Amino acid sequence: MSQSIESHLNEKRVFKPTKQFSKAARIQSLEQYRQMWEESIKRPDKFWGREAAELQWQKKWTKVLDWKEPYAQWFVGGQINVSENCLDRHLNTVRQNKAAIIWEGEPGEKRVLTYQQLFREVCRFANVLKRNKVKKGDRVLIYMPMIPEAAVAMLACARIGATHSVVFGGFSSDSIRDRIADCKAKLVITTDGGYRRGSIVPLKKNVDDALREGAHGVQKVIVYRRAGNEVHIEEGRDVWWHREMDYVDGHCPAEALDSEHPLFILYTSGSTGKPKGILHTTGGYLMQAYATSKYVFDLRDEDVYWCTADIGWVTGHSYVVYGPLACGATSLMYEGAPNWPENDRFWRIIEEYSVSVFYTAPTAIRAFIRWGDQWVKKHDLSSLRLLGSVGEPINPEAWMWYHQVIGGGRCPIVDTWWQTETGAIMITSLPGAVPTKPGSATLPFFGVDPAIVDEKGQEVGPNVGGKLVIRKPWPSMLRSIYGDKARYKKTYWSEVKGCYFAGDGARRDKDGYFWIVGRIDDVLNVAGHRLGTSEVESALVSHPAVAEAAVVGRPDELKGQGVVAFVVLKSGMIVEPHLREELRQHVGQVIGPIAKPDDVRFADALPKTRSGKIMRRLLKEIASGKAVTGDTTTLEDLSIIAQLTANND
Ligand code: WT7
Repeated sequence: MSQSIESHLNEKRVFKPTKQFSKAARIQSLEQYRQMWEESIKRPDKFWGREAAELQWQKKWTKVLDWKEPYAQWFVGGQINVSENCLDRHLNTVRQNKAAIIWEGEPGEKRVLTYQQLFREVCRFANVLKRNKVKKGDRVLIYMPMIPEAAVAMLACARIGATHSVVFGGFSSDSIRDRIADCKAKLVITTDGGYRRGSIVPLKKNVDDALREGAHGVQKVIVYRRAGNEVHIEEGRDVWWHREMDYVDGHCPAEALDSEHPLFILYTSGSTGKPKGILHTTGGYLMQAYATSKYVFDLRDEDVYWCTADIGWVTGHSYVVYGPLACGATSLMYEGAPNWPENDRFWRIIEEYSVSVFYTAPTAIRAFIRWGDQWVKKHDLSSLRLLGSVGEPINPEAWMWYHQVIGGGRCPIVDTWWQTETGAIMITSLPGAVPTKPGSATLPFFGVDPAIVDEKGQEVGPNVGGKLVIRKPWPSMLRSIYGDKARYKKTYWSEVKGCYFAGDGARRDKDGYFWIVGRIDDVLNVAGHRLGTSEVESALVSHPAVAEAAVVGRPDELKGQGVVAFVVLKSGMIVEPHLREELRQHVGQVIGPIAKPDDVRFADALPKTRSGKIMRRLLKEIASGKAVTGDTTTLEDLSIIAQLTANND
């Protein structure tokens, strides 16, 4: 939930890690954390060099960091393979027969893949990719539900050096088409369908629709049979996963890849234009995904670790697949919704598998609160030892509920701030070392040098709000926006001189703790999902009745932010009763259901300044039902405000 600085300035509670937790943790005290952090900032070569030695390199790097702003290369000259580090590295150890993935399907099926079994599947599927002409450097689009084969597909790409781009299963065929066009994918991996609240999402059909029109270079579509729904198979283009697997053997050496070889592209919303393809590479990304999994979740061989994120988001990449598997941990994957068939599905899963580390989003926590404690109380959650939060600021009330009701008052909470662009966790507490304050992500992770700056780029003092920036390169930082270096530079490295600008507003308290306020650009955070207002606007104006649209966020108790659209119809069009719903559906079709506006308001015009700029501040005030304050003297037509406010139903 977007919090104002005023609301969390009053938060005084502090929770210290218990002695018992600290004693068993990798980082056991604030002093130890500080010492290591100092070293990581002053001597990154030494710090990261030591950490990187825990990974398996095919060729050792010659230089830890080469930094020519805004371009970083990490572990220069090194060669490494991510899939080898997530799989092969564990095979000659006691982990060989340990569960790598524990999976539960929404209808209730259960599967366990040991490291050995996962390794075998990945090798065979990597051979399937090769059989279908995928080569090192090619792009592969993955559009799959939360099933183990999604992880297999990602790891198989990584194994042969193909760059994957996972598209969230809730996105539309238009979104798939745009991403295919942008990254020039050669092959698509999908399933017939996936389960969501008891019904089947037609994933293959969405891929068919995406490939129907326009020029694209997709030569093959590999289809895994998941839901058994009827699908169209295009002769010569579409092949079945299970048939292909019969043609290949299980031997596939892990390709020696340059440390800076592109591992994946993940599209995310920005404040302008179409989603940006965030490019992550191999060595540095793996390093930080691994190090954060190790230190932040303090993963142990005994743990059953569950991150509830979908692989379609960066959290799923770094903390369902790459981070935990690189640690040799057991990663639990669940396919469906938290309230299917009933509101206690998550607690049922935690009890059944004795989950010990649980990582989820504030928006989910707020839904659980609303559903009521009785759903939690039905289950034994005593296996839990550590809780995590990610995706948006967690309001202190939700934090306290999470701590008490889910964590039984005994589990530390790690509130982890990071972004698709940062690749891995950046600001977080370390559970055995850092006292937590409800609502604060606390302190920077090793190697991360954040600051709060004002409009001029000057660092501000304690408790003064400003822009959150990162002053030094970090291993898992994005390397570019795919195919658009100029936009990369402009978006991230030109707002504040010499710094990466994250798009977030924050403050730092007198203890140096970071309190993230939320986005200060035109990006919304709806239920932990990132949405560009301009994306929703262009979806709206693609509807034949719409002349102009402006989209803003408003505080939403459950989702953090809700989407409000202000729409001007083309002349001659009248506001018919069904139009509001039709526009919502239309946006759902163009982007995906998560982008559907919560509220659509019609007016004869949008409030603009005399120079033609839409007055977003004013729209935000109207959207959240606040009185319109501040200066409206530059407003072109004052009657517009009255119209938009009256529409407030
Ligand atoms: C934006 C990034 C990080 C992976 C999931 C979202 C917000 C994320 C926190 C947190 C406050 C947070 C920020 C950030 N955010 N984590 N712990 N506290 N805000 O990745 O889609 O790239 O979104 O999510 O606003 O900029 P994303």
